[in-house]
Amino acid sequence: MLLLHGPNLDLLGRREPDVYGTETLADVDRRARELGVELGLEVDARQSNHEGVLIDAIHEAMTDFGAVVINPGAYTHTSVAIRDALAAIPGTVVEVHISNVHAREEFRHHSYVSPVATAVIAGAGTLGYDLALRFVATRI
Ligand code: DQA
Repeated sequence: MLLLHGPNLDLLGRREPDVYGTETLADVDRRARELGVELGLEVDARQSNHEGVLIDAIHEAMTDFGAVVINPGAYTHTSVAIRDALAAIPGTVVEVHISNVHAREEFRHHSYVSPVATAVIAGAGTLGYDLALRFVATRI
């Protein structure tokens, strides 16, 4: 499965730690790979600050991955292109947000991605990625 992190998530641990916690992206990815081994999932983790790079990775997932777990970051609220790419994925798509986007600013309440996601997890902190992987494991 593909674990895809969008813009600014490379700053995890240093960026607004009161909102996103102190765990780094490297910590999250290492934990995901470890949990993947336990669950029998091969986890390919990637991060990009560029919309087109994220879209290219999603295109790869159409044929090369059984599922996508994605935190699109701020593109969640702006990107029709990422939504369209995800809509083409035949397998499971899980949208993850570390923070509870619905309890934050109004512009974070709308997601272009949620209508094409199989499941949405928000507000569980980085534990949300563990939950997403466990869900994916039940589907593939
Ligand atoms: C986020 C929430 C988004 O609104 C924000 O732009 C992010 C991170 C989250 O994980 O809580 O970059 O996706």
